[in-house]
Amino acid sequence: MSDQILLRTDEGGTATLVLNRPDKLNALDYPLIDALASALDDIETDDAIGSVILTGAGRKAFCAGADIKCFSSSVNAGVEIALRDFVRRGQRLTSRLETFPKPIIAAVNGLAFGGGCEMTEAVPLAIAAESASFAKPEIRLGFPPPFGGTQRLPRLVGRKRALKMLLTGEPITAGEAAGIGLVNDVVPDEELLPAARDLAGKVMAHSRLAVAACLAAVTRGINLPIDEGLAVEATQFGRMVPTRDIREGIGAFLERRTPSFGGH
Ligand code: COA
Repeated sequence: MSDQILLRTDEGGTATLVLNRPDKLNALDYPLIDALASALDDIETDDAIGSVILTGAGRKAFCAGADIKCFSSSVNAGVEIALRDFVRRGQRLTSRLETFPKPIIAAVNGLAFGGGCEMTEAVPLAIAAESASFAKPEIRLGFPPPFGGTQRLPRLVGRKRALKMLLTGEPITAGEAAGIGLVNDVVPDEELLPAARDLAGKVMAHSRLAVAACLAAVTRGINLPIDEGLAVEATQFGRMVPTRDIREGIGAFLERRTPSFGGH
């Protein structure tokens, strides 16, 4: 694994992925994007891992966005290369984070600008340190956000709130981000990783199959008309019907005991 990504897995099955370019505020250059995508591929097939925490190295930044020096050469090479090497690479990453079958919690430890904000939008759960801040500074560089930021942010927080961030480029605080639904919670800086692990533990106490079904139903359904979304929900429920986990969950309730899910 590249040293731009650090991966630690704890005994409870939570992997912590650390963006590790602190001297560049964990800006996403192409090797870092590719290393993150590759780490997610490894985690997806590793049965010992049930959830993921994504955070940044250093005290200052979660991620300062796409690496401007890196992608500027793609922009200078023209539309085809810019879309192929920069835009689609970043969009693939945020879509992968959004649709990953195991829960990913962003632990936003500092500034989350540009692509850092887009990764926060894409993952299903996020906790911010009090010192974190969020911004869409791309407008100042002369272009709209290209890693899903014009699409996910308005769906997440509403059109006007999103457009204020997109059109001004001004940062918002962690508290403001929680207020508009960009992150779930704000905690003191030193409690960030414990809070993320605690949240991961609460999720992983449940059936892994049911967790994956909730993630798939919400992520696939949210951009569909309600009747199609309900069909997605029914499909996900139907996938649980033949499993032992659904029998265990219902049986444990009826027998007044704590369920023990095996993930099958
Ligand atoms: N791409 C490439 N390098 C970046 C970067 C980015 N998005 N963000 C920060 N860096 C680098 C800086 O160039 C600097 O490197 P250097 O020490 O080799 O010169 C280092 O990270 C530290 O950044 P610096 O600007 O000195 O920190 P700061 O505290 O003064 O400012 C920011 C922090 C985030 C306000 C500022 O770095 C910034 O505006 N970054 C760009 C954010 C952005 O536009 N992101 C979207 C890109 S599409």
